Amino acid sequence: MLLKKEELPQVAHPMMNILHEEEVDIVNQLYDALKKGDIEKADEMFKVFLADIEDHFSTEEDMMRESRFFAYQMHKGEHDTMKQKIYQLYEDWKKNKNPEEVIKFLEEDFKPWLILHISRWDAETAMHVGDTI
Ligand SMILES: [Fe+2]
Ligand SMILES: [Fe+2]
Repeated sequence: MLLKKEELPQVAHPMMNILHEEEVDIVNQLYDALKKGDIEKADEMFKVFLADIEDHFSTEEDMMRESRFFAYQMHKGEHDTMKQKIYQLYEDWKKNKNPEEVIKFLEEDFKPWLILHISRWDAETAMHVGDTI
């Protein structure tokens, strides 16, 4: 398991919390498959993870646009940077199928990023979106 749901900061918007919990489920399944060296399962879960990242980020970006969130560009910029890293990692994965490389990224990059991103950007966005409903 890469991270527990309890480690996720909660924000003031139920749908965003659900998006984050679903992502934790998926990334944990990817992580566990990599740890076991189950390449086939990891391959499948990596694709699910990519689709989930797209859904997670674009849902938040839609919410920000609809509520005219003042820091849209900065929050979206954070998403874009992480998305680029994940797509680059996926390209490397397709070539090398090296579980260690992906495990290292998830532990040292993605996990701390997600926790910090939620507490810094999603929490602020959730409060703003909540105010406009
Ligand atoms: Fe988020
Ligand atoms: Fe976000």
